[in-house]
Amino acid sequence: MPIQPNPDGWVLETEHTAYAFGLNAAGLLAHRYWGVRLPYIDDYPPTPAPPNWASFNNAAQLTPEEYPGVNDIKYIEPCLKVAFADGTRDTVLRFDSSEIDGENLLIHLQDTHYPLHLTLHYRVHPEHDLIERFPTLTNTGDQPITIERAFSAQWHLPIGDRYRLSHMTGRWFDEFNIQREPLVQGVKVLESRRITTSHHHSPWFAVDRGHADEDSGEVWFGTLIWSGNWKIAAEVTDFASTRINIGLNDWDFAWRLNPGESFTTPASLAGYVLEGFGAASRTLHNYVRERLPHRDGLHKVLYNSWEATFFDVDADSQAQFAEIAAGLGVELFVMDDGWFHGRANDQAGLGDWWPDAKKFPNGLTPLIQRVNDLGMDFGLWVEPEMVNPNSDLYRQHPDWVIHFENRQRTEGRNQLILNLARADVQDYLIAHLDTLLSQNNITFIKWDMNRNVSEAGWPSYEGEQREIWVRYVEGVYRVWGTLAQRHPNVIWQSCSGGGGRADYGILRLADQIWVSDNTGGTARLRIQEGFSQLFPANTMEAWVTDMEKHLSLTFRFHVSMCGSLGIGANLTHWNEQEREEARRWITVYKAIRPIIQQGDQYRLHSAQGGEGYAAVQYVSKDQRESVLFAFRTHIPDPAPPFTVRLRGLSPQARYTVEGFDGARSGLAWMHIDLLLPLGNFDSTIRRIRQVEG
Ligand code: DGJ
Repeated sequence: MPIQPNPDGWVLETEHTAYAFGLNAAGLLAHRYWGVRLPYIDDYPPTPAPPNWASFNNAAQLTPEEYPGVNDIKYIEPCLKVAFADGTRDTVLRFDSSEIDGENLLIHLQDTHYPLHLTLHYRVHPEHDLIERFPTLTNTGDQPITIERAFSAQWHLPIGDRYRLSHMTGRWFDEFNIQREPLVQGVKVLESRRITTSHHHSPWFAVDRGHADEDSGEVWFGTLIWSGNWKIAAEVTDFASTRINIGLNDWDFAWRLNPGESFTTPASLAGYVLEGFGAASRTLHNYVRERLPHRDGLHKVLYNSWEATFFDVDADSQAQFAEIAAGLGVELFVMDDGWFHGRANDQAGLGDWWPDAKKFPNGLTPLIQRVNDLGMDFGLWVEPEMVNPNSDLYRQHPDWVIHFENRQRTEGRNQLILNLARADVQDYLIAHLDTLLSQNNITFIKWDMNRNVSEAGWPSYEGEQREIWVRYVEGVYRVWGTLAQRHPNVIWQSCSGGGGRADYGILRLADQIWVSDNTGGTARLRIQEGFSQLFPANTMEAWVTDMEKHLSLTFRFHVSMCGSLGIGANLTHWNEQEREEARRWITVYKAIRPIIQQGDQYRLHSAQGGEGYAAVQYVSKDQRESVLFAFRTHIPDPAPPFTVRLRGLSPQARYTVEGFDGARSGLAWMHIDLLLPLGNFDSTIRRIRQVEG
């Protein structure tokens, strides 16, 4: 039974972990335990009922409440802040009832005076060792209630204050840098105020006791299933209680909850492992692959000419690239930006989603047919949320963009953001993109978003203006979700100028993520490692391009083969020798991609460690096959020797490792340091195979 009630409250058990909370003597819903699963139900500690601490902090300040509101003598970060119609901004929620339905636990709470009902949802994912949480707020009265903050969860660490927080920072072209820092008394805030997830921080946390590594140590980790403004507030209280608040960003947020209405926040997903950051990532990878609605199959090797041609696309030149790509073994040809009405550069066209008559006088069909005849699928780039002022759409509907009435409309890349909170805007996009997908044999869409919000207004909306942050994202989900439902054979890629929209909310719609516009091999090693904290390799689109061209083609291929392989180089510049090499690596990739895309990933040596070496290994789920990639960037000679120990093999089974003599047990390979001689900017790939006997 994943959920067990007992006299002390409730215990939520996954295969290896448990999470417990209950009502304390003061009637507060308090956290009890989060860690390894224990043998007996009475092993879990009882609900704490802390004492007062002088007149300045009473028990409320010291209680690890599951979902604290603003009330009492209490100054910790609350999950909930509301304003009632009479101006009261104090929420006193008390337990009402609970329901267990399989893997779901609902805890109902009711304000002691006001008509506010709160339901805390807990969903256990036993086989994935994860717990999901989100609240629903319901106004049961006859006057509006304003919600000013509604986090998804407050996750409590065992009492103590010596924790370390891992998170990721970045910017365009430089995403997913892992940071590890001690958590000290106070609040550490990570957030996005950009209406989307952002390149700058990722909605991800991993907390350990200061000494976990890739293979060992307790790690509590989690994320938010949401693609808009988000916030993580990691607090260490004055009483050595460490908690991670996660949810919708309350910066500039408000929601008017009218009588009879409910508001449900996005969900937070969290887990616990004993075996370090690597195990935390693999737990999340399994969840993404098995629980988010991705296509079952393997992702195809694609070609995209963006970095080769930029906006200069037309039927003939694209066909020329397609012919070369097909000869290399590419399976999916994607036409990027530049194909639609009036799009000669980044100054015009966005919003007018039909083929440009000059570039494609006969529409897209002849090109798609050519691509299909070459044996490849066809994919297309779109940026649905955007509009250029120089477009038919903007000329017809200047009021459709996000803006304030008496302020300038600040452009980014010459574009404004369509207000996808509006139903008419959503309907326009659904209609035009549906036509595009219905009239053309398109099986892949790259959905881009190349700027973040400014002047976040919605003048014609009569409700609470600050709802736009949430309603916009819901609008994106509706447009994308409707199209995905109508065109179930399309594979979707989430892109936002690289990795600006990488999150589990978008992965409910997208199959893949474009990780970064930085496609340089050495930069990618680092970026890909950060990305892998949260996302599995099958979601990681990775191109071989002409960036960092001093790197060998082999090195560039090896880096991109660590994800879902693509090519973005100017193929017309590749000589026959380079094409032959590309053909060879694509063939190798096709043979090993099930291991990479569907297997377990082990980060053997960090590219972000600054030492100049990196290694990553993938192991098939049945442990019969594995593949090791190792890289050296630049290290002044004499460089220290580079050794790795393999991971994830079956200890008793016997394996061969390419480049090393003999067959040995998995246990042996995992305890012998393998010396990998690599020169500057060298890389190697080694296949590992189980052998009989
Ligand atoms: C940003 C993306 O990240 C690029 O790959 C490319 O699609 C451009 N936008 C097109 O404008």
